[in-house]
Amino acid sequence: MRLNACVPFRRVRGYNDRFAPAEQPATASPGKNTTMTDDLTQHQDKFATLAAMRERSRQGGGPERIARQHKANKLTARERIDLLLDPGSFHEIDAFVLQRSRDFGMDKPEHQYLGDSVVTGWGTVENRLVYIYSQDFTVMGGSLSEVHAEKICKILEMAIKNGAPVFGLNDSGGARIQEGVISLGGYADIFLRNTLASGVVPQLSAIMGPCAGGAVYSPALTDFIFMVKNSSYMFVTGPDVVKAVTHEDVSFEDLGGASVHSAISGVSHITAENEGDCLFLMRELLGYLPQNNMEDPPFKASRDDTLRTDPRLDEIVPDNPNKPYDIKEVIRMIVDDGRFFEIHELFAPNIVVGFARLGGYSVGIVANQPMVLAGVLDIQASEKAARFIRFCDCFNIPIVTFEDVPGFMPGTKQEHGGIIRAGAKLLYAYCEATVPKLTVITRKAYGGAYDVMSSKHIRGDLNLAWPSAEIAVMGPDGAVNIIFRRELADAEDPVAKKAELVQMYRDKFANPYVAAARGFIDDVIMPSETRPRLINGLRMLQNKRDENPPRKHGNIPL
Ligand code: HXC
Repeated sequence: MRLNACVPFRRVRGYNDRFAPAEQPATASPGKNTTMTDDLTQHQDKFATLAAMRERSRQGGGPERIARQHKANKLTARERIDLLLDPGSFHEIDAFVLQRSRDFGMDKPEHQYLGDSVVTGWGTVENRLVYIYSQDFTVMGGSLSEVHAEKICKILEMAIKNGAPVFGLNDSGGARIQEGVISLGGYADIFLRNTLASGVVPQLSAIMGPCAGGAVYSPALTDFIFMVKNSSYMFVTGPDVVKAVTHEDVSFEDLGGASVHSAISGVSHITAENEGDCLFLMRELLGYLPQNNMEDPPFKASRDDTLRTDPRLDEIVPDNPNKPYDIKEVIRMIVDDGRFFEIHELFAPNIVVGFARLGGYSVGIVANQPMVLAGVLDIQASEKAARFIRFCDCFNIPIVTFEDVPGFMPGTKQEHGGIIRAGAKLLYAYCEATVPKLTVITRKAYGGAYDVMSSKHIRGDLNLAWPSAEIAVMGPDGAVNIIFRRELADAEDPVAKKAELVQMYRDKFANPYVAAARGFIDDVIMPSETRPRLINGLRMLQNKRDENPPRKHGNIPL
């Protein structure tokens, strides 16, 4: 990769040869006797050349292809940048870069587009510096040439060096077919830099058109993927290859559309209704994130009283422990202004993750969802939460866990699918996280899931429980079946006996006080006071220092 290679002189001359405005004013010949007016005239010629070239670059693939893009309900690369960034803040670089391929007639002027098929630069979002690349589908389908890759790599390197987030807007037909392996090398150069930027600066990707083949791995290496409904798709092999290899007939949408990746594969984190919505949501997400791993996320004070209690919380957990309630309602009642930015909403909905603010502090929330599969931890839920926790830990975002979990999902499907490995990822993520960790047990904390969900034993900083909490090895029903098997078998009335034993077990263990007596729970609180208690906890933990032993990196059970 020749990132900083000098552009050969020949190529610079080539610009003028190929892109001089149609009517070039005659240039004054320089000489001893030139006057200031002559100089100005000369400069004006050059300024006119610059303006013409810049305009040409802005045109991308030209008006016809721009119209085609609009007809497909898509914005152009530049229109997207304008919507995403603060007005007038975009500074473009490499607008005059030219592709270098000479094969398949690519040396002809009609294949030379100033800036090639990606627009790159920096600007601001809410006055914060961000770097951006936006693939231009109007230029050769946004396909990735050598110089296209170089432009993206330059942006990623600047972002790492200067510590600012990167937005990648993807809309590309993949490798520039005419360039062959050179293009593949360009992808690898990008993958490397995405990986090096990981955990250093936040990387946000939007898929706003095709993203196929190995190209998918650049966004997949970034922190968050946004997809636009009905106009974006991602797959490693397209419908034709699928048909040839597996004889399956599948459409682009059913193979890799936004609905597939948001609900089934979990590749996409956010689904947007349209492109404007997508760019708006990207701006909103950035509001919760710091510029880089050395900074704290932005503090945003709100009018929501930090001491606000909510009596509705005292009634939200049903008396019947098998009845569900919506943990998202709980979250909204507690966080600033009821605003919860959910990530992966449709994927593994038995666990809920997302960002919110508490007393102005940005926090990552992880919560079991009793409304779906009773909030059980399965493979997908474990992986979803583990990745989110690791993101928060990378970027100094405290983690607040709401726990109501009956345990890990039983069954051959889960065991054979690797629930041990997946559960270990979640455990690992919580164990290694050194950001402030606050936990609220709202109801069930059973078995291994009690340990996993940010318990005191794995460096939970503030572990609170509601009076409705049940902290035990397992639920009363299962426990009684095992430890009183003989008594139940011998009982005259097994049903009455079981009810009696379940009640006894519940009284003894299905409460927070056994754990509190050991100091495994720091306090039992009224549900209504959860918000002020969490905000107080965050303030108390503001200067937390904790670190892991020095090492190259740990070995998370991937
Ligand atoms: C060069 C390409 C191109 C490509 C599209 N174009 N893809 N040029 N390399 N990969 C050009 C077209 O020639 C056309 O040029 C313009 O872009 C728009 O393309 P259309 O086909 O007219 O658009 P549309 O009908 O919307 O179809 C879009 C598309 C289709 C589905 C993306 O173009 C397509 O299937 N392209 C090939 C995709 C592909 O196989 N890519 C390689 C994947 S393998 P004009 O001049 O007419 O405007 C890969 C490996 C990466 O990427 C590995 C990394 C490790």
